[in-house]
Amino acid sequence: MSGLIAPSDYSQEPPRHPDLVINAKEPFNAEPHRSALVSSYVTPVNFFYKRNHGPIPIVDDIDKYNVSVNGLIQTPRKLFMKDIWKLPKYTVTATLQCAGNRRTAMSRTRNVKGVGWDIAALGNAVWSGAKLADVLELIGIPKYSHITPSGGRHVEFVSIDKCKEENGGPYKASIPLSQATNPEADVLLAYEMNEETLNRDHGYPLRGIVPGVIGARSVKWLVSINIIAEECQGFFMQRDYKMFPPWVDWDNIDWSMRRPQMDFPVQCAICSLEDVSTVKPGKVSIKGYALTGGGRGIERVDVSIDGGKTWMEALKYQKHGIPYIPEGESSDKWAWVLFEAEADIQKSTEIAAKAVDTAGNVQPENVQVIWNLRGILNTSWHRVNVVIAHSNL
Ligand code: MTE
Repeated sequence: MSGLIAPSDYSQEPPRHPDLVINAKEPFNAEPHRSALVSSYVTPVNFFYKRNHGPIPIVDDIDKYNVSVNGLIQTPRKLFMKDIWKLPKYTVTATLQCAGNRRTAMSRTRNVKGVGWDIAALGNAVWSGAKLADVLELIGIPKYSHITPSGGRHVEFVSIDKCKEENGGPYKASIPLSQATNPEADVLLAYEMNEETLNRDHGYPLRGIVPGVIGARSVKWLVSINIIAEECQGFFMQRDYKMFPPWVDWDNIDWSMRRPQMDFPVQCAICSLEDVSTVKPGKVSIKGYALTGGGRGIERVDVSIDGGKTWMEALKYQKHGIPYIPEGESSDKWAWVLFEAEADIQKSTEIAAKAVDTAGNVQPENVQVIWNLRGILNTSWHRVNVVIAHSNL
């Protein structure tokens, strides 16, 4: 008994904020309005996107709740919350982004399969919990290990939710052992979000948080952790969340050709304007978010008010009163960077934004070149149209 129950229907779902935009009801998938998203650096829990593949699990007895650690290790062990709480508590500000963020826009080019998302399938939270590196050390795997003596190279997280894609089985995913045992990778077994106990939607009582990596690898409602030789063979690792080129379609796909997506690429989007906004001639505020994977910083966010012919650099910020320095000590390396620019707009035009990270990676100009059949990783320049409202004289 793990102390967690997985309902098979949606009759016991938690309450949710009425202002969320619901993209799918069962399983529940929702995001905030884009205009609400960048009103704070830390996203309030209620407005944090919710991405589920089945009904939300329920804790029936927190004292009995445990995570069993098995696989290629000397001694399998059950870890109870009291064991996790005893480990040093770390707090990491990290942005979780679904690989399907901005899928709706990609599907306008050519049809894709998957839940449609606008530009808010991400959020920035303050996560607290034990470091996975400490948990693994507790069960006998030293820090900075690439392989265990019995050949374990990957750490698999297994949940309990009943997912259709797994034929009613649980959601699972894995990360390399080298990342899991590296304390600087900041992988957490988190029990708090924004200084409150995790809520049911976000993984209560315990979830993985893998910073800089697509949200799909941050498994919620953990029931077991397995040390395995090959990466996890679950649906969401092997037959989903892989990036294919535009020429692969459902009639010629070979899932084994591509690796599971891990880090997310450089991304940004404008949140202060809708796809089409009507504005008065004059000053327009262009605000949004930028982020990248691998713990890299955001070097620049460029904004254009003539559809990409000419550009200006936006202001970037994270925490109030602390200047954002890409990869600087005082900056949150796993968190998004907010940006803001102001422009004088006198005629109807297209506004575009693109970010550049500290490795010089830059967003592609067009969605067509990165179209893929599952509609993931739409990181093309974000474009919105403004239409000038002419007052009736
Ligand atoms: N973990 C479980 N057990 N079940 C899920 O459906 N969805 C994954 C990941 N972990 C999922 C899961 C995906 S695709 C994403 S993007 C994130 O959780 C979303 O986390 P959130 O709902 O807390 O925002």
